[in-house]
Amino acid sequence: MKDLYAEHFKARQSDLDAALEATGFDALVIGAGAPMRYFADDQDAVFRSTPHFNHWLPLEGPHHLLWLRSGKKPVLVRVAPEDYWYEQAPLGDPFWASHFDLREVPGPTEAWNEVDPEGRTAYIGNDGLRAVENGIEQACLNPEELTARLDWNRAYKSAYEVAHLEIAAELGARGHVAAKASFEAGGSELEIHRAFVQGTGSPESDLPYPTIVGLDEKGAILHYTGKRTGIEGRVLLIDAGARSGGYCSDITRTWTRAGCDPIFAEMVKGVDRFQLELCDMVRPGIPYPDIHIAAHVKVGELLHELGVLKLAGEDAMEAGVTTPFLPHGVGHFLGIQVHDIGGHQRDPKGGSQPPPDAHPYLRTTRQIEEHEVFTIEPGIYMIEMLLREHRSGKTAAHFDWSLIDQLIPFGGVRIEDDVLVTGNGHRNLSRVHV
Ligand code: GLY
Ligand code: MN
Ligand code: MN
Repeated sequence: MKDLYAEHFKARQSDLDAALEATGFDALVIGAGAPMRYFADDQDAVFRSTPHFNHWLPLEGPHHLLWLRSGKKPVLVRVAPEDYWYEQAPLGDPFWASHFDLREVPGPTEAWNEVDPEGRTAYIGNDGLRAVENGIEQACLNPEELTARLDWNRAYKSAYEVAHLEIAAELGARGHVAAKASFEAGGSELEIHRAFVQGTGSPESDLPYPTIVGLDEKGAILHYTGKRTGIEGRVLLIDAGARSGGYCSDITRTWTRAGCDPIFAEMVKGVDRFQLELCDMVRPGIPYPDIHIAAHVKVGELLHELGVLKLAGEDAMEAGVTTPFLPHGVGHFLGIQVHDIGGHQRDPKGGSQPPPDAHPYLRTTRQIEEHEVFTIEPGIYMIEMLLREHRSGKTAAHFDWSLIDQLIPFGGVRIEDDVLVTGNGHRNLSRVHV
């Protein structure tokens, strides 16, 4: 990791130099962030660093500052309070430390004493009040173009980042293998969740997002986070990932067992098959929305083959009858954030490239380029709320409603992998493990 990190660090420095030059700033301070405290409480939400901070280094915890200037060694101010309530582990000798002029201070007030906002200094972070109190101009807080330029580059992963994303995928896959075994043994949602967490070897608070463990009909709730006990399922939809060095995996599998409707089981196999075909479309130069559109055509084909829809492929998509079954985008950038930044960004300066009107939930509209990492996650769900409007009216005849009613108790299917774009195709980071 040490050598890979050295390359990654160099790339951060050259991105920074270019972004400062283009926007006329002399320096940038990135705050790791102030924790979020629940209202009228003495507890904080699980802390997540400003992603721009973690893009430079994998140091966790609140209030650290990074003071960045072109041509100067970055100053890293590490806030390390003396405290007996919470663990304050010593830093040790991490592989990244030699790249920084490292200063250790006991608190956030002292941290700012290490920074001299000379010239035009920008600040990125959530503690703008403290930044202004310490000499940053209001107009220089989270400046749009500078931030956009850094966000744009986050889409292109360095070899160091890819190494972490690969580890995160492997750890997540270990969780999935354990979760599948629990499901097959009749585990409840809570038991399957526990098996997943145990399988990753991480504490639950380190997971990149709350696990989605839906048995049967709950699989049709896209972000279901309930954890039912005392329930055995016939279908499991599990969407769960892990982290490494701050980088996330985001993996979904759908498994069936005895008692699952055979047509639903065919649907699971069909989605699994065409998800791989969608992954095979990934290569530099393809607009990401093409994959989303292809997913709808494939949903139309499969549902026609299974007898759920009377129209096939493109005809089904154009009639708008695939949308109730696939009401989310086919994927998103992945990195320090699960839904990594910049999917709609038009160019390095910023701006927006919105998704097509018919597909507002598509999170990625950029052209596919080498070194991007994103998910490919088609699904088919039986969501009564979305099907209801088609049960009468001009599209009703395109559906086999009695078959749909037969499938509704089994929920939904989603298959999600994390893929890296290579020079002429892709590498699937998660399929190799689960
Ligand atoms: N786990 C949330 C998503 O797949 O986007
Ligand atoms: Mn995802
Ligand atoms: Mn997911």
